Amino acid sequence: MTQGSTAAEPITAIEREALERLTTVADEGALEGWFREYLGRKEGRLNALLRGLGALPQEERPRFGAAVNAAKERVTAAYEERKGTLGAAALGARLAGDAIDITLPGRPVPQGTLHPTTLMIRELSAIFALLGFQTIEGPEVEETRYNFDLLNIPTNHPARDEWDTFYIGSRGADDTVNEMVLRTHTSPMQARTMLAQEPPVRVIVPGRCYRYEATDASHEAIFFQLEGLAVDRKITMADLKGTLTAMSRQLFGSDTRVRFRCDFFPFVEPGVDFSATCAVCGGKGCRVCKGTGWLELGGAGMVHPNVLRNVGYDPARYSGFAFGLGIERIVMIKYGIDDIRNFYGNDLRFLEEFAGTRI
Ligand code: FA5
Repeated sequence: MTQGSTAAEPITAIEREALERLTTVADEGALEGWFREYLGRKEGRLNALLRGLGALPQEERPRFGAAVNAAKERVTAAYEERKGTLGAAALGARLAGDAIDITLPGRPVPQGTLHPTTLMIRELSAIFALLGFQTIEGPEVEETRYNFDLLNIPTNHPARDEWDTFYIGSRGADDTVNEMVLRTHTSPMQARTMLAQEPPVRVIVPGRCYRYEATDASHEAIFFQLEGLAVDRKITMADLKGTLTAMSRQLFGSDTRVRFRCDFFPFVEPGVDFSATCAVCGGKGCRVCKGTGWLELGGAGMVHPNVLRNVGYDPARYSGFAFGLGIERIVMIKYGIDDIRNFYGNDLRFLEEFAGTRI
């Protein structure tokens, strides 16, 4: 050091001042200003001392120069240290500013829901499984012989009219070539099932059906049915009524009753339409059942002997019942939906109503 030397006094003073002021420098900007003032190549005060070297007597110059350089080294070392501290602090502050708060709850992932028709198919399958019925499925594009002929629906029957039914393929010159059809009901699976196996038969068939239909609040061109078929020895109307009563009570409550009224379907004899007491008013009459106390669920009857013969069953030995109901209609009754067009309108607000529904 240069204590005792008059020429060296400003060095010590500048060094002390520089080191003191360095402790008060609070950010990188201020540090830069400080650097310029004390260590800057041009205006830095320590370098300015070196530039005044020439004014000193020859013999003092080496010691003075060495003293300035030593001071510069110490001040530079202090500067580097401060720079490091401020840099780390600034980095820390920046990181803190950019930080992602991982303790926030995540955004909910939208979860799909089962369609109400699917929910009802599952519910019906579970009910009929308890009654010993197996759930099977069949083709939606169907041969006319299964959709019509084997079901005792003759060629001239109005159900075959091209205005009622979606035919696949073209008409031949002789007007008889329409072999394939979008099935108009799930009943073709009656014929397919019986042709494929011997009695006893106990199946239900949920599936999509197609009709050339002017849509309204209760009719769609594409809708779902559930077919039921039981064939065995000594099957009677009582079995049919008992089965549909058990189904209706599971669906709508244990007080539910079932009503049969005469109806005509070519593939059953006798044929009925069946209704259940209104799930809303319990049979007293309300807006949902239009004051009748009954809700119509579908068609049913005893399998026609001609159909049994068509599939190779002996009607003298076997008898059976069959029924077909509209699945959307049941959902509508159960959940108070007043327009079937909601089902396939793809409005998520409608579909999400069923998000919590479990069977
Ligand atoms: C039939 O389709 C017969 N196959 C039912 C049957 C099966 C009778 C076995 C006897 C024995 P129907 O056309 O009535 O019948 O239709 C049955 C049910 O399907 C109707 O009660 C209704 O709930 C539903 N359904 C019929 N057409 C439509 C439609 N366009 N939109 C929505 N649901 C329909």
